[in-house]
Amino acid sequence: MQTGLTGKTALVTGASRGIGRAAAFALAAEGANVVLTSRRQESLDAVAAEIRAAYPVGVLAKAAHVGEPEQAAAAVEATVAEFGGVDILVNNAGTNPYFGPMVDLDVPRAEKTVQVNQLSIVLWTQTAWYAGKMSERGGSIVNIASVGGLVTELGIGYYNATKAAVVHLTRQFAAELAPKVRVNAIAPGIVRTQLARALWENHEEMLNGHIPLGRIGEPEDIAQAITFLAGDTSSWMTGQTLVIDGGAVIRPALSSNF
Ligand SMILES: NC(=O)c1ccc[n+]([C@@H]2O[C@H](COP(=O)([O-])OP(=O)(O)OC[C@H]3O[C@@H](n4cnc5c(N)ncnc54)[C@H](OP(=O)(O)O)[C@@H]3O)[C@@H](O)[C@H]2O)c1
Repeated sequence: MQTGLTGKTALVTGASRGIGRAAAFALAAEGANVVLTSRRQESLDAVAAEIRAAYPVGVLAKAAHVGEPEQAAAAVEATVAEFGGVDILVNNAGTNPYFGPMVDLDVPRAEKTVQVNQLSIVLWTQTAWYAGKMSERGGSIVNIASVGGLVTELGIGYYNATKAAVVHLTRQFAAELAPKVRVNAIAPGIVRTQLARALWENHEEMLNGHIPLGRIGEPEDIAQAITFLAGDTSSWMTGQTLVIDGGAVIRPALSSNF
């Protein structure tokens, strides 16, 4: 089955690097116009130039802090002015400002984690639905959660709590926006990006030994699943979270007697 993404318009948050950048390339490769957002215009302009050089699609780069409603509105308005509306929204931007036991978490960093990882999903979905005309055009929303939102991990507990919220926001929006718009999520395991650098740098060999498929993820591993969920390829699917982690969560327990 074809993705049916040719001529559609996909808005990707956190598109300046990592998973969001790879998603923008993958969507453009399928023929979608792409709108790139993140905080730094310069980084976005560089990615936009690379995509324009590689694919004959429309590309718009518009800086926006993902947690600020008026900046979300400005990015979606610019999308409507350039392409007529939003068909695909990839809520990808994320942050983790705090490492440590949750019992010691401070309020400013807790609030920032919620604003960027969790509230942003609501803001950009609302804005794309109304101002971006997804309510009329239909389409697909892909939220980036984390496998950490499904399990417990020491050190990044509050980040993971916001990712568990993303899994539930995905179900709730899927129920509210059906049948016009499908809403699904991806829960990646450890992927080679700047955000996760502390988790994989200097530990890669050890991690590879713990992952059934023998390696950490690359941004492109997640980008391919984003195009699957964005396009007609997943047309009978909504409210679900796809785990893409090299098999890390299904690793047999060490206590096995076999
Ligand atoms: N890498 C992993 O192992 C992993 C695993 C599970 C889930 N994830 C999730 O995957 C998503 C993408 O992360 P990544 O790993 O690709 O990280 P990354 O390479 O560090 O990229 C993060 C992106 O988000 C943007 N961003 C950060 N804060 C922002 C804000 N306040 N407003 C707007 N944009 C903002 C960054 O651009 P600017 O700094 O220029 O704003 C950048 O484009 C995140 O939701 C993350 O939680 C990652």
